[in-house]
Amino acid sequence: MGKIGQPEGTTGQELPESFGLPYRQLTDVQFQKFSALVYEKAGIYLKPEKKELLNARLGKRLRALGLDSFKSYYDYLMRDASGDELVQMIDVVSTNFTSFFRESAHFDLLGNRVLPEITSSNRRKREITLWSSACSSGEEPYTMAMVVAGFLEQHPGWTFRLLATDISTKVLAQAQRGVYPDERIAKVPSSYLKRYFQKGVGGSRGYVKVKEGLQRHVTFSRFNLMHEFPWREELDVIFCRNVMIYFNRETQQELVAKFHRALVPGGYLFIGHSESITSLKHDFTQVDATAYQKR
Ligand SMILES: C[S@@+](CC[C@H](N)C(=O)[O-])C[C@H]1O[C@@H](n2cnc3c(N)ncnc32)[C@H](O)[C@@H]1O
Repeated sequence: MGKIGQPEGTTGQELPESFGLPYRQLTDVQFQKFSALVYEKAGIYLKPEKKELLNARLGKRLRALGLDSFKSYYDYLMRDASGDELVQMIDVVSTNFTSFFRESAHFDLLGNRVLPEITSSNRRKREITLWSSACSSGEEPYTMAMVVAGFLEQHPGWTFRLLATDISTKVLAQAQRGVYPDERIAKVPSSYLKRYFQKGVGGSRGYVKVKEGLQRHVTFSRFNLMHEFPWREELDVIFCRNVMIYFNRETQQELVAKFHRALVPGGYLFIGHSESITSLKHDFTQVDATAYQKR
């Protein structure tokens, strides 16, 4: 029997997770278990330095579920046949930072090279298909949509369809609403602001909303980049920015091959400015620091 005030079955040295301070401190073994799960399900590789971050982020789920230990949270995840909690966990673990016109050179390239090339080709299909493959809260796909819509105003007969996907349901819900605080649109050129956003009034003052005319070109959907892609030589442009950085080399290699298959010949792949595919095997021609064209 344990001492008074000490839970039964413990020696006093190793407090069970539900007692005292250490209960919300992720142990190294637990970190390995959770990071293996995150890697298996989302391809995201969490370096050991991310232990504190994971600790804080998973702590949110523990609080939301009223659980008192990481062990019970792990067991809960394993028992949840619906997979709903796995989605929630990936939501809190993934990093969603994004902005309108982020890494703006890509949008210049889109407007000055990619779109003129497509619209001056003699192909029969007059619809341009683009994919924002880790779209976060929507700033990236809406930026792409503004650039394409603006360009196509001068090219009657052409239209476009933009698919925007992410693994996180939380950010997708924000993206779908298309509502942003005024400060988020600071980098959007005023000509685009006028055409594609409406200002909030009354209770919505301080917010803007993407106009329906732009929004209807964009379809948001949950998609895990680890899964097989349903497209073969169908997409003209793929943005996969600031997510590959979380994947290990093997996953990046598979992803680049899948992007290649999904693109039409001559299609374009854009990756984040701090990312690189130079050390990977691929059949792309580099057209700019982080922009590639399918050979
Ligand atoms: C840092 S944000 C980048 C957003 C945007 N592409 C940009 O560059 O501004 C990374 C996004 O990748 C998503 N993500 C992480 N793992 C993913 C996966 N396996 N499949 C799809 N999206 C994933 C995250 O949910 C997050 O929204």
